[in-house]
Amino acid sequence: MILVFLGPPGAGKGTQAQRLAKEKGFVHISTGDLLREAVQKGTPLGKKAKEYMDRGELVPDDLIIALIEEVFPEHGKVIFDGFPRTIKQAETLDEMLKKKGMKVDHVLLFELSDEEIIERLSGRRIDPKTGKVYHIKYNPPPLGVEVIQRDDDKPEVIKNRLKVYREQTAPLIEYYEKKGILRKIDASKPVEEVYKQILEVIGNGT
Ligand code: AP5
Repeated sequence: MILVFLGPPGAGKGTQAQRLAKEKGFVHISTGDLLREAVQKGTPLGKKAKEYMDRGELVPDDLIIALIEEVFPEHGKVIFDGFPRTIKQAETLDEMLKKKGMKVDHVLLFELSDEEIIERLSGRRIDPKTGKVYHIKYNPPPLGVEVIQRDDDKPEVIKNRLKVYREQTAPLIEYYEKKGILRKIDASKPVEEVYKQILEVIGNGT
């Protein structure tokens, strides 16, 4: 089963994908996580991507597509989290899957208001050792776990990420709606309830 998690920054895509990977055996492919890893390691991709990420802009399609080609699993249950983000990326994903006799099964659109997005992103903290995502109010890290704030979770960058989402990524809603595979998720609910909505879409026994 191939899932695409679509939605604005901070809507909870990563939180839910991490849990589905752990409990249901999905391979979790997050282009954001892969890019942050490349930046941290100082690879050529990381050096090119950093300036875009720091501004809250999209990394160019050719770099993202090359990255996805590297990590594309041959088969199995996969969640693409934060990819595709442009029509070009979506068309490329469709082509890649077609060559393998596969297709996107469900696109889960995480819906959340701008106000809630800002609250979630400004309170987000990450455990740099495991990559696990926390929130100072909604999901505080356990005692003893040292957490950091993401560079792009600053107010001016958050604003730009929202603008970029609306202009460049939101057109994917129509793209997938036309294919009849878009499923809406009310991402304003607590983590547990969002998880249940996802299981309803993909099937509890998945
Ligand atoms: P990326 O890392 O993908 O960021 P994003 O899409 O902006 O998504 P986030 O990771 O910010 O949010 P999320 O929806 O995963 O929410 P989370 O679960 O953390 O991309 C970063 C950058 O990389 C981009 O700006 C771009 O430059 C580049 N990039 C990446 N992919 C690209 C691509 N395909 N093409 C081009 N460029 C690309 O939750 C947020 C917070 O809320 C957390 O604190 C969490 O604990 C809390 N929370 C989660 N769910 C709930 C809930 N139900 N109730 C209360 N709190 C909750």
